[in-house]
Amino acid sequence: MKKVLITGSSRGLGLEFTKQYLEKGETVLASCRNPDSAKELQELKNKYPDTLQIFKLNVAKEEERNKIFKEVKMNVDSIDILINNAGIVSGNEEKSSVLGEIYKEDFSKVFLVNSIAPLLISEKFLPLLERSENAKIANITSQNGSIAKRNVGGKYSYAASKAALNMITKILSNDLREKGITTLAIHPGWIYTDMGGPNAPLQKEEPVSEMINLIEKTTISDSGKFLDREGNELPW
Ligand SMILES: NC(=O)c1ccc[n+]([C@@H]2O[C@H](COP(=O)([O-])OP(=O)(O)OC[C@H]3O[C@@H](n4cnc5c(N)ncnc54)[C@H](OP(=O)(O)O)[C@@H]3O)[C@@H](O)[C@H]2O)c1
Repeated sequence: MKKVLITGSSRGLGLEFTKQYLEKGETVLASCRNPDSAKELQELKNKYPDTLQIFKLNVAKEEERNKIFKEVKMNVDSIDILINNAGIVSGNEEKSSVLGEIYKEDFSKVFLVNSIAPLLISEKFLPLLERSENAKIANITSQNGSIAKRNVGGKYSYAASKAALNMITKILSNDLREKGITTLAIHPGWIYTDMGGPNAPLQKEEPVSEMINLIEKTTISDSGKFLDREGNELPW
């Protein structure tokens, strides 16, 4: 039975990762900003009382990152999979997306949640990841973070934050390879969630299942890759 830590489990892809890992029989350490109001996550807790643990974590808050680490450490002695899933488009879409309306506070917030927090959480949980036989860190990135594929304007903060996350993933893979920890940047596809919006062509069940399979089958030789959910390498 694997132990999987997930950020942003309240809704969208994070909730679906939580559900599917539980269905597979794994132990899930699900985290979200407001556990009390995460209704669907709490319903999963009723269904899987022994294998689901819910923790409070706003990834942008240092005191909460410290607290969850202490709490998790009291419950498990290792973590096999860390999914850095929590992400935002922008605190205020208009204010760090459109040229002429770039606000540094808003831009910084997107970077903190999408790029810096995944690194800080990976760093924090290293002692537990190192104790797994075959640990994996999956950073949920976006094709928007591909500089090579960027041929439209706008979305400054989101696209730049995911490009930064891609670089962080690559550097982490170099630092963690000799510890046997596989580090991946995975683009899920355009999926119907609050972030993906109603025009997205994909429902979340199948893409999340494909990402779980991808995380399962990748090995240390894949570490540092920027992949789509089918395992195809994407251009940086
Ligand atoms: N959907 C797509 O088409 C798509 C495409 C490419 C990449 N992605 C990436 O996939 C990941 C999940 O996206 P999604 O579509 O599931 O988005 P979503 O439906 O908007 O859900 C975002 C999740 O992130 C959480 N979150 C936001 N800020 C947080 C913070 N400071 N601390 C902790 N949790 C926080 C939210 O929690 P609250 O409920 O507390 O707000 C929510 O659980 C993101 O990294 C996103 O960039 C999505």
